[in-house]
Amino acid sequence: MNVSNITNSLTKIIRDAGKIMLGANKNRDFDSKAGTANFVTAYDVAVQDFLIKSIKDILPEAVFMAEEKENDTAVLFEKYCFIIDPIDGTTNFIHDYRHSSISVAMLCGGETVLGMVYDPYLDELFTAEKGKGAYLNGEAIRVSKNPMELAVVQIGSCPYYKDEFADKTFALTKELFFKASDFRRSGSAALDLAYLASGRCDIFFEFRLSPWDFAAGELLVTEAGGIVTKSDGTKTARAAPCPIFASNGIVHEELIEMAKGYI
Ligand code: IPD
Ligand code: CA
Repeated sequence: MNVSNITNSLTKIIRDAGKIMLGANKNRDFDSKAGTANFVTAYDVAVQDFLIKSIKDILPEAVFMAEEKENDTAVLFEKYCFIIDPIDGTTNFIHDYRHSSISVAMLCGGETVLGMVYDPYLDELFTAEKGKGAYLNGEAIRVSKNPMELAVVQIGSCPYYKDEFADKTFALTKELFFKASDFRRSGSAALDLAYLASGRCDIFFEFRLSPWDFAAGELLVTEAGGIVTKSDGTKTARAAPCPIFASNGIVHEELIEMAKGYI
């Protein structure tokens, strides 16, 4: 099966998965996971189960790395590996804040070839295929051309690792706040990267993200003309959590120079 066929099938699957989120009743019981303020609801599990089953129906050889299951990094190098975040922004979802997403990336032999981030509340589907650009509901998107002084900076607060990252996160945010235009904190890293890809913001950083938080969003940003690296400017990794520093490209060198003070 070629990537475009998979994109077409996934477009329907991910929108159907979004209906599970939209149909959630207001009483969102949750369980706690490792770390601080880290939660999972029955809906995270239901969306994940639905995606895995639906993808297996169209691609029986598919293997999965997904947030709400045990994972083995060996799957990353299989022919068709899907990295899934069933609900990115679970805390927003529990609060009915209506800013959460479903994130699905497909890797072939370790390379990300397809990325989709879906916001069911706005029915916004961000899609990218390697080498074919990035799209929002079928319309091409590009990163902004803003310089640092006009940049809107999306920050991720590493809420599950407060002791380790709070000081660095807020010190770098303060430095950026003075150099850039303003900052935001949305609660969904996948949507932060999708928004960066569409020019709605100019910088995103978070000192620790898991592969399911950023795998699809990273391809959206790079296909839209932006840059995604670790905090030291090197290539991101999939086999373990890592820092994610993303930008419209124009401000990347300056961002990484500033990040050096906080590694
Ligand atoms: C979280 C969100 C949040 C980010 C956290 C992520 P989850 O994902 O993307 O914005 O700050 O680091 O873990 O847990 O809601 O899927
Ligand atoms: Ca996530």
